[in-house]
Amino acid sequence: MGKLPPGPRGRLLTTYRCLAKPFEFMPKWLAQYGDPFLVSAVNGKVAVTGDPKLIRQIFSANPNNFDPFAPEATAPLVGPKSVFLLTGDEHKRERKLLMPPFHGERMRAYGDIIVNTTKSHLQQACDGKPIKAIDITQAISLEVIIRAVFGVQDDVLADSFAEAVRRLTGSVSPLFIFAPFMQRRFFGIGPYDRYLAAYDHLDKLLQQQIERTRENPGEDILSLLLSARYEDDTPMPDSSIRDELRTLLFAGHESTALTLAWLVDLTHRTPGVLDKLRHEIAELGEAPAPDQLARLTYLEAACKEAMRMYPITTEVLRSLREPMELGGYTMPAGTAVSPSILLAHYSEDLYPEPTRFRPERFLERRYSAFEFLPFGGGMRRCIGAAFAMYELKLVTATILANFDIELCDANPPKAIRRSVTLAPKGGVPIRVKQRKTG
Ligand code: HEM
Repeated sequence: MGKLPPGPRGRLLTTYRCLAKPFEFMPKWLAQYGDPFLVSAVNGKVAVTGDPKLIRQIFSANPNNFDPFAPEATAPLVGPKSVFLLTGDEHKRERKLLMPPFHGERMRAYGDIIVNTTKSHLQQACDGKPIKAIDITQAISLEVIIRAVFGVQDDVLADSFAEAVRRLTGSVSPLFIFAPFMQRRFFGIGPYDRYLAAYDHLDKLLQQQIERTRENPGEDILSLLLSARYEDDTPMPDSSIRDELRTLLFAGHESTALTLAWLVDLTHRTPGVLDKLRHEIAELGEAPAPDQLARLTYLEAACKEAMRMYPITTEVLRSLREPMELGGYTMPAGTAVSPSILLAHYSEDLYPEPTRFRPERFLERRYSAFEFLPFGGGMRRCIGAAFAMYELKLVTATILANFDIELCDANPPKAIRRSVTLAPKGGVPIRVKQRKTG
């Protein structure tokens, strides 16, 4: 075996520190052991790097040398045919079909859905009572996916989908994700039985929606997937479409909602930012079109800066099929390499005063795909990145133009781990009022 990088000892403690306190321990280990360093976690050895040169090397390497890391954690939610779990040529073939509907230009079709959904959920919160921003942004991002991706138009049906999704996410237990032998039925009342029932229920709704859309296609992403063809001219089987719809839902829903909640907090807490954003929006005049909002440069910089400071996941991981040389070390097959989003985004050289929320930095210089990587990179880069950026900008602009928000907590929220994602502790309690001035 080649030489492994140095790193902290003790698998259990190291795993706990990575998951619970990444902002504290990742920079500390970088300073102590250098780049890359080795994290020995309970599910394997991982070489972590925040160096753009090494990140580039990983993202540009042959994707056939990588497998998804710990697939058992995602499989119960998304299903076996999900792009998340496919590897090699099968993964490439699936991405080719999934990518075109998410092309930047196509996003225009979803502008009105995003703006109207945002207004409706904020209006419901305008009763002066404190509410968690995360509850509102989750409801928005879920409804946007149900309407724009699944193409559901009917309000009652949209509610049934939202309920079915909440039931499935609520039924997934870490017990049977991390201990697969717990994936057993228990007289219809065990946690795994509850999960299977919720999975089947959502699956039935998805199949009914596929059949409805086949009869009556629209501009939604499901319609595009139904008309897409693989290179051999075959369509995607319904079972794959259902798995991909679930994948888009779970990849897109929480990630967008959490980023939006961070944005609500950061834009209202940082002196000067709110005024600049409102000024930029007001310059467009009354009732600007979604596309005009999406082109605002300070708004885009604020969205990027929120994702720089609070990336949805602190790192992306790739399991190795073949050994890989990285920064003078050799990682053997079966171990993993990991571009650390957190370490790159908090590098003092790239982002001076990295703990300050300063959107201007994205107007002052361009960052490469290996310096700013909230959507990961290489052959597994987020398929919904353009969709997510469009939604972040439109939801934020719609909120700021139409509502006044008061933060209820005097102190900024801490980032805590919520499953794999980083969430603002306390969910950002706010009060919402309809905005009177233009
Ligand atoms: C702010 C919002 C979002 C963030 C920060 C985000 C971030 C990410 C990250 C870090 C990855 C892993 C990339 C890698 O391993 O290199 C990923 C993958 C993925 N994301 Fe997103 N995402 C967001 C929204 C969305 C949306 C809205 C959708 C679709 C509706 C989506 C669909 C996907 C899919 C399908 C993958 C798997 C790609 C593959 O394995 O080939 N994401 N995302």
